[in-house]
Amino acid sequence: MKASPTPANSTSRRTFLRNSSVLVAGSAIAASQVQIARGAHAYGSDTIKVGLVGCGGRGSQAVQQAMNTTGGEVKLIAMADAFESRLQPSLAGLNRAKQGKVDVPKDRQFVGFNAYKDLLQTDCDMVILATPPGFRPLHFEAAVKAGKQIFAEKPVAVDAPGVRRFLAANEIAKQKGLAVAIGLQRRHERKYMETVKAIQDGAIGDIVLARAYWNGNKPWFRTRIEGETEMTYQMRNWYNFLWTCGDHIVEQHIHNIDVINWIKNDYPAKAQGQGGCVLREKAFGEIYDHHMVEFTYGDGTVMLSECRHQPNTWNSVAEHVHGTKGRADVSGSKIYDADGKIIHNFSPKNDQERDLSQGHQQEHHDLFAEIRAGRMPQEGEWGAKSTMTAIFGRMATYSGQTLDWDKCLNSEVVVSPVDKYTSFDDVPPTKPDADGWYALPTPGKTKVV
Ligand SMILES: NC(=O)c1ccc[n+]([C@@H]2O[C@H](COP(=O)([O-])OP(=O)(O)OC[C@H]3O[C@@H](n4cnc5c(N)ncnc54)[C@H](O)[C@@H]3O)[C@@H](O)[C@H]2O)c1
Repeated sequence: MKASPTPANSTSRRTFLRNSSVLVAGSAIAASQVQIARGAHAYGSDTIKVGLVGCGGRGSQAVQQAMNTTGGEVKLIAMADAFESRLQPSLAGLNRAKQGKVDVPKDRQFVGFNAYKDLLQTDCDMVILATPPGFRPLHFEAAVKAGKQIFAEKPVAVDAPGVRRFLAANEIAKQKGLAVAIGLQRRHERKYMETVKAIQDGAIGDIVLARAYWNGNKPWFRTRIEGETEMTYQMRNWYNFLWTCGDHIVEQHIHNIDVINWIKNDYPAKAQGQGGCVLREKAFGEIYDHHMVEFTYGDGTVMLSECRHQPNTWNSVAEHVHGTKGRADVSGSKIYDADGKIIHNFSPKNDQERDLSQGHQQEHHDLFAEIRAGRMPQEGEWGAKSTMTAIFGRMATYSGQTLDWDKCLNSEVVVSPVDKYTSFDDVPPTKPDADGWYALPTPGKTKVV
């Protein structure tokens, strides 16, 4: 098995120059080829201009982490959000935190459903896509078309058609030599990288079982404002709706599922599971509050996955792997032999190593170092397939059936028809009943394939 912490292609400045000379020589060159040359550019110490799509908590932090990188200036030059009321506080906060690195005048502030399109027309080099994931395939596809370097938050879709759309655009990004980085930051954390490599090198023998958990508290919600449209309410409360969020197994638990896929260098072939919503409240929309899935990989390895949103219950965000010669507490970065003796224990020895375990910052250090050197990270494929694994798990809990990976990846069931939404007066795919309750998926009845 091979470790793949940060796959990068070898697009070099020479490739860029070769493409440039083709452009000069040919008059009938397609616009997409112009973008091939732009994408493959080694930025060196040039200023990298960033545009932010989705100016919430994560997007605003990701911009700062991009600006903290070294090797050249990083400037924020454009911002897009569905809501003006989200864009302005983000801009004000960034102006306070990163004075001199933010240059977003009124005519580069965009709001509404089409804000991303306007932002992609600016001359930003890179976009950070940090909206709710239901919009990611649409925004990612447009960003690739526009020839931008891309940092896309996880998950990259909420349904199988969205995953396929993302994968198709990702192939074009590769052809264009564009960077695609995904916010699955554990893959950039030193403690994870060392532990995963030791496991892949055989420290615990053959893997027979993995356990992945995101068990925690209830998510946030925002109370309904009198007179707002249903679309506005659901967009403000995106976490609680399937079409925007994908349910918490996809939105949150993807991190832990991805770690096991990374260790296995594979994706599960089968899934079956159970889930539901025990602590129902109207405000919490239509997602479950617990999922438990048994995934089986092609070689027979089983991954047990649990995620839960219930206060005062066992709280654990972790990954564990069991092998024929020992076991690993992956999130705790400890490896034990068959007698329970610790044989590997990563602990940072200095500030630099401590910093290298901070994935959110490190993923940006890695991304910017790579694109300055002209090597474009290609994290899109595993980002999309780990997203699909989490969706696969949700399909299992919603349907109550034993499911097959290929059939699920090829499912035509669309849960997030975001292309058709252009206004807050549009009608979202789910509506409350007369008493204000949203319908939940029903195992045995709900169709997922
Ligand atoms: N990697 C991580 O550890 C991590 C941590 C937190 C969140 N995330 C991911 O980041 C993404 C955003 O999460 P968040 O916590 O910042 O949420 P948030 O609600 O704070 O921010 C989302 C922003 O996107 C805006 N938005 C919604 N639809 C939009 C559209 N169509 N066009 C433009 N803007 C739109 C919202 O108005 C909001 O400002 C999610 O995919 C989430 O899973 C990742």
